[in-house]
Amino acid sequence: MKKSIIAAGVAGLMALSMTACSNGGGASATTGAPTTTAAGAATTGAAPAAGGTIGVAMPNKTSSRWVADGNAVKAGLEAAGYQVDLEYAADDIPTQTQQIDQMITKGVKCLIIASIDGTALTSQLQAAADAHIPVIAYDRLIRDSPNVDFYVSFDNYKVGVAQATSLLYGLGLTNKDGSKASNPPAGPLKVELFAGSSDDNNATFFWNGAIDTLKPYLTDGTLVVGSGQDQFGQAAIMRWLLETAQTRMDNLLTASYGGNGAGLKGVLSPYDGISRGIINALQNVGMGPKISDGLPIVTGQDAEIESVALINKDVQFSTIFKDTRKLADQAVVAAKAFLEGKTPTANNTKDYDNGVKVVPSMLLEVDTINKEDIQSKLIDSKYWTQAQVDSGQA
Ligand code: BGC
Repeated sequence: MKKSIIAAGVAGLMALSMTACSNGGGASATTGAPTTTAAGAATTGAAPAAGGTIGVAMPNKTSSRWVADGNAVKAGLEAAGYQVDLEYAADDIPTQTQQIDQMITKGVKCLIIASIDGTALTSQLQAAADAHIPVIAYDRLIRDSPNVDFYVSFDNYKVGVAQATSLLYGLGLTNKDGSKASNPPAGPLKVELFAGSSDDNNATFFWNGAIDTLKPYLTDGTLVVGSGQDQFGQAAIMRWLLETAQTRMDNLLTASYGGNGAGLKGVLSPYDGISRGIINALQNVGMGPKISDGLPIVTGQDAEIESVALINKDVQFSTIFKDTRKLADQAVVAAKAFLEGKTPTANNTKDYDNGVKVVPSMLLEVDTINKEDIQSKLIDSKYWTQAQVDSGQA
């Protein structure tokens, strides 16, 4: 759909689109997963040489997923005719707020933000609204602000369900699809639970999806949390840090497993970096080194290359693959819609209440990856190459 936007009209279009957004009206349901690709965005975006700069704020470069996200969003926006100011904030909140302040000052036409602390951007978003800059929350919902116009993410509750299902599968209690195993091991099986960063809205969704899935097994005693630490606040790992997770696992092993992990069968982990910290701690007390040697089942998320390599080597059990290329496409589609005075299409208008309003969302599906899925899901789709899987490096 071609639409040339003359400079004088932009502010008016922004205002219109933001009004439409805050009314929550006009968001229509879509069916099925989006099929556009970065290349697709290039084709559809080739029409208007839209111009203008879009600000893209990413949390850190230490996780390969955010680097992939940033690159994919940038490529898609550039192919659509925009310039891109892409910034990473080294997981430092003041750095991210400054970067966003500067983007607003420079006059970006739209902001795409993957926040570090989802509650820390209220004044930046107010400044953006005052300047009629639409804001798209990328993967992580920005909370406590009326000025979040759209949210692109994955179905975060389902991510938690998939993680817990994978833990149950790894323990032999279910089949891969979550149906009951015909010959499950006798309980009680000891597990430990980890959660993400408590300032990231997603962490609670992952936790709730996982706990709802594990609950029947915890209630009937098939599963037991060996440490007794079964509350989100006890399990949360601030900033999702590998080192913090490793230290917590060290402490749990000392306090509840005789220092050598005896009896521990599995660990729910919400993110690959946390998984690697957990695995380091388990291996340091002599467990494993592989699952076939008795290393507990450890789940994950993001299909980070370091963890995919560990899955391939029978060390980490699983990860949840979120195709960042598809998410980036959705962010590009949403930004283009705003800049053309339209309302981006949402497929969820009820679940993501940011404390002030329900933010219209486009949620994508995820895939669980075990060793046998690496080829079909990650290599065939060109997310990672065989060489990267072999070396564990991007
Ligand atoms: C993302 C996850 C990621 C985690 C740590 C969450 O907000 O949704 O994909 O594993 O942050 O970076």
